[in-house]
Amino acid sequence: MTAASRGAQTRWPADGLAYGGDYNPEQWPREVWDEDVRLMRVAGVNLVTLGVFAWGTVEVADDVRDWSWLDDAIELLHAHGIAVDLATPTAAPPSWLLAAHPDIAPVLVDGYREPAGGRNAWCPESSVYRRYALRHVDALARRYGDHPAVRLWHVGNELGGGNARCYCDGSAAGFRRWLRDRHGSLDAVNAAWGTAQWGHRYGTWDEIMPPRGRHGAPNPGLFLDYERYSSDALLAHYLAEKEVLERHSSAPVTTNLMVGAGAQVVDYASWAPHTAVVSNDHYTLVGDLPAGDREHDLAFAADRMRGMSPGRPWLLMESSTGGPSWQRRNRAKDPGEIVRHSLGHVARGSDGAMFFQWRASRAGAEQFHSAMLPHSGTRSRVWQEVVELGGHLRSLAEVAGTVVEPARAAMVVDDPAGWALQHGLMPHRELSYGRELRAWHRALWDRQVVCDVVPPGVPLDGYDLVVVPTLLVVDDDAAARLASVPARGGTLLVTYLSGVCDDDGQVRTGGFPGAFADVLGAWSDELYPLQAGQVVRLDDGGEATEWTERVHLDGAEAVVRYSSSSLAGGPAVTRREIGDGAAWYVSAALGADGVGRVVDRLVADTGVPRVLDAAPGLEAVRRRGDDRSYLFLLNHTGDEQKVAAAGHDLLTGAEVGPLTTVPAGGVRVLREPRRPASD
Ligand code: GLA
Ligand code: GLA
Repeated sequence: MTAASRGAQTRWPADGLAYGGDYNPEQWPREVWDEDVRLMRVAGVNLVTLGVFAWGTVEVADDVRDWSWLDDAIELLHAHGIAVDLATPTAAPPSWLLAAHPDIAPVLVDGYREPAGGRNAWCPESSVYRRYALRHVDALARRYGDHPAVRLWHVGNELGGGNARCYCDGSAAGFRRWLRDRHGSLDAVNAAWGTAQWGHRYGTWDEIMPPRGRHGAPNPGLFLDYERYSSDALLAHYLAEKEVLERHSSAPVTTNLMVGAGAQVVDYASWAPHTAVVSNDHYTLVGDLPAGDREHDLAFAADRMRGMSPGRPWLLMESSTGGPSWQRRNRAKDPGEIVRHSLGHVARGSDGAMFFQWRASRAGAEQFHSAMLPHSGTRSRVWQEVVELGGHLRSLAEVAGTVVEPARAAMVVDDPAGWALQHGLMPHRELSYGRELRAWHRALWDRQVVCDVVPPGVPLDGYDLVVVPTLLVVDDDAAARLASVPARGGTLLVTYLSGVCDDDGQVRTGGFPGAFADVLGAWSDELYPLQAGQVVRLDDGGEATEWTERVHLDGAEAVVRYSSSSLAGGPAVTRREIGDGAAWYVSAALGADGVGRVVDRLVADTGVPRVLDAAPGLEAVRRRGDDRSYLFLLNHTGDEQKVAAAGHDLLTGAEVGPLTTVPAGGVRVLREPRRPASD
């Protein structure tokens, strides 16, 4: 897609790639602002997110607004050519509002109301909160809706971060309304949840309560529906604000998601279509993780963003230049990581790199959070790298509007399936959805295979390989679409527990893994979760931990068999050939080596392309426009890497190839020699 065709969908909020971050001038004396905009120019900042937490500093008392500082800030930025991503400040209601209406705050699972304060301490069903929030959003949109500096609207902040679930009586009422919509009748609810169990049959709607309390054994159907309802209740609030903004402004509307690996606080795949620019906040994992884990996690999140914004660029809305401050030990970034991590997002489809925040705060809860302009000022290494990154993003301006070369591998990920896996009386309560997802994605990433991470139910026609890890809950339609992949010559790989439950969370009977047993040509009659530290050996030299099953073949062949435990001799990994396609079942948690062996075979069999042949830790992704392609090479290892690639390095201006050296920790972005737009 060209910049022009992208423009037809949504006018991009910045010229070229977006660069900047949250800007909170209200925390600083006016004279500091002049230095801010001067330094923003030095760094190449072209977009800032303004006013995210500026409700109480504008609406200083009930319906009394002091716009003066915000007027001033917008004009100052505009005068310096910096575009504004203007936030509705509804994440943090003003103190006067919370004091007058403390029942805006959510009720926690154990029935206590959250004390007012902090952020996102509001219940999406609170009509008082909604009324005040929309009144202020309306005033904001009327005032700035057609200001030329305002190129994007940013609704609230990380909706669900802190208020993903509320268990108040208002939410109970909202839940009952939602259930009527979803199920139609009380009989249908009773049937869907199987309320005959423990005699929990509901005779009237009012008997249905949120899953309060910490006893850990709510009805799984009730639990899952409450999770879904909670996501929808927050989405309804987002949509209400969006509707007000669109009444007064033609600027596109987004909200910053928190997409990573595993089950997220809300069902982001259902949110993304409601944003004009899908945007994400991503902070690299911390701790002493094996080399590449932080970067792989970043790549996973970016691939998931792409799966939510097919065919169009997305935006990294927040990241950090160093340690955040919400973790136990906040790791600084090593030299080169600000650039490499930011360009890692750009490589995988973000048309920009944004940060929390522009200038490090002196006061307030986030006073020790890293920033583009640190406490130590412009003599810091971070600032030097921030300026360097700005230069790189300018050099990469021509990449804006191109898209990642369509992936031929996909991984199916679903937040509700993840919620279901990690709650209640499960066969194994310590399984981690995120860990299982990462294992398979990591193996592809290590082999330079680009993989879209997509929600279930999307068209899968373009994919030669579809990987479905531990998708516990899946509806019949999505299951049928997945099961049809091999018939058209594709390869489907399903791992344990997938398809075991239907959309209501009820177990599919007749053999595991329920929805997929037929297409796999293999089924299990019994699940064998393993104890902590327990290992079951496999006949390919590998090991299973955490999970095994007693599998029977019914058309498939065994690729790997169990060789110890009571399962010895039985299939662990199976493959069924279906015409030109194949269906694989992985009944055990294999560990990195075992997953790697399966992925090697999948890559060989399916022909999904490796962007190039390099060592693990050398990340390679191609973005394409109508007549150009760009090869991003990111070296996450501590050793220089040489790869077969050629072109014009946009970061250095050098012509390189046929072998290109990527320094340890370094990045190359090559405009490749011209060739046809598609193979
Ligand atoms: C107890 C209860 C049963 C059942 C089992 C499950 O024995 O009495 O109702 O919940 O636990 O192990
Ligand atoms: C989130 C929030 C920001 C800030 C950062 C800190 O992403 O959206 O306001 O608190 O975390 O890492």
